[in-house]
Amino acid sequence: MTDARETSIRSTSTSTSTSTALPASPGETDPTTASGGTAPMYTLTAVTKTYQQKKRTVTALDGVDLVIPAGQMVAVQGPTGGGKSTLLQMLGALDRPTSGTVQLGDSELSAAGDRALAAVRAREIGFVFQGFNLVPTLTAAENVETAFADGSTPRADRRAAVEAALASVGLAERADHLPSELSGGQQQRVAIARALVKQPTVLLADEPTGSLDEATRDEIMDLLEGVWRDRGLTLVIVTHDSAVARRAQRRLRIAGGTVAELGS
Ligand SMILES: Nc1ncnc2c1ncn2[C@@H]1O[C@H](COP(=O)(O)OP(=O)(O)OP(=O)(O)O)[C@@H](O)[C@H]1O
Ligand SMILES: [Mg+2]
Repeated sequence: MTDARETSIRSTSTSTSTSTALPASPGETDPTTASGGTAPMYTLTAVTKTYQQKKRTVTALDGVDLVIPAGQMVAVQGPTGGGKSTLLQMLGALDRPTSGTVQLGDSELSAAGDRALAAVRAREIGFVFQGFNLVPTLTAAENVETAFADGSTPRADRRAAVEAALASVGLAERADHLPSELSGGQQQRVAIARALVKQPTVLLADEPTGSLDEATRDEIMDLLEGVWRDRGLTLVIVTHDSAVARRAQRRLRIAGGTVAELGS
């Protein structure tokens, strides 16, 4: 499933084509770090994350070293409590490691302040979760529009982006529906549209098909794989489902906070 996608994966919100002119953005090919022609999107070095629970220390990640090249589709499997969601939180700039470093492109996330992390999340990362996490009182279009929460994008541009995002997940006709008026698969499509509407470089999905039946699972995976390929995203999917994991270019297993390659 490899293809020639090591060209720039960054696109701006005002352009539908890819751009190579932006400085120092993750995913741009850097000859000094290129491996097989693709710069790393993520470089994790000795990442440890511990949680303090009363007097007990829980080690969720235990010295993880990991490089994820830009544009790769990675599946993360492993037993419950193994550290999958914790890893995704590190990749998603939702949390910092207790020790070690997490580099996203040229940004050092482990050293960044809350504001800087929020900016990285807003600019670079889309999230999809098992439970869809839609606001029940908002329509599909309004849910997608919540991605523009900071209000810096003009209304007309927001509306146009929302319309395009819903169309890209095949839900143009359902823009005015509430989540309760949509099937599980359609709700997940809305959540994917919300994750994509700001043109992120990275899409992180935690059990995105965990609540869906097999046919809908396959539809959602077709959609995710399609946007991954078309947009040149870096896609990391946490899953318990081997049928989902098999579709990735690379499979990782996390158990006891330690990452191992499962091959592809
Ligand atoms: N906020 C927290 N406070 C305390 N312990 C936590 C916290 N978050 C995670 N943990 C612990 O860290 C370990 C890893 O949790 P994590 O959620 O990453 O596992 P997971 O692989 O995603 O599991 P699952 O498949 O059940 O979702 C577990 O032992 C968990 O109890
Ligand atoms: Mg989890």
